[in-house]
Amino acid sequence: MTEERVDKLGGFEFWKKTLHSAKYVVAPMVDHSELAWRMLSRRYGAELCYTPMYHAGIFTKDPVYRKEALQSCPEDRPLIVQVLSLCHAKLKVPITCKIRVFHTIEKTVEYAKMLERAGCQLLTVHGRNIEQKGRLTGIAKWEFIKAVKQVLCCYYYY
Ligand SMILES: Cc1cc2nc3c(=O)[nH]c(=O)nc-3n(C[C@H](O)[C@H](O)[C@H](O)COP(=O)(O)O)c2cc1C
Repeated sequence: MTEERVDKLGGFEFWKKTLHSAKYVVAPMVDHSELAWRMLSRRYGAELCYTPMYHAGIFTKDPVYRKEALQSCPEDRPLIVQVLSLCHAKLKVPITCKIRVFHTIEKTVEYAKMLERAGCQLLTVHGRNIEQKGRLTGIAKWEFIKAVKQVLCCYYYY
């Protein structure tokens, strides 16, 4: 079977041109990241926002869910839409990923490299592992984030 690939910006070119080199990014938050929150955040300086996480299965089958999920407006850009299980090679828009860290730096770095190989164009690392929730949230593991950055980043911008 022949692979049909789609031309699109990738890596830092994608970040610079499509995301306008956004530095002030509002992290996604379940039950908060809807349009009204995004527009309020932008009014106070946010340069890039996320939608809430969408369930890809329901999205394809339920028109009401789809209509609510797609609420946006021209001022609500650039915007990262949270879905996954879609394919970098087939989509016209770049794929970004967001991960928590594993219990070791090595496994975290391996996982990040795997995402890069799979076509991830922009990776966000939440520096806490799966257990670090609620009262166990604690401090983010900045050394894990640093290790991922050192392995994946080949360009520097000032
Ligand atoms: C109330 C709340 C809801 C969140 N919901 C999501 C979510 O839906 N998807 C996601 O990827 N991260 C979610 N996160 C994680 C944040 O996007 C962010 O990665 C995390 O809070 C780390 O940033 P911090 O160290 O500034 O807290 C949520 C965080 C909070 C506090």
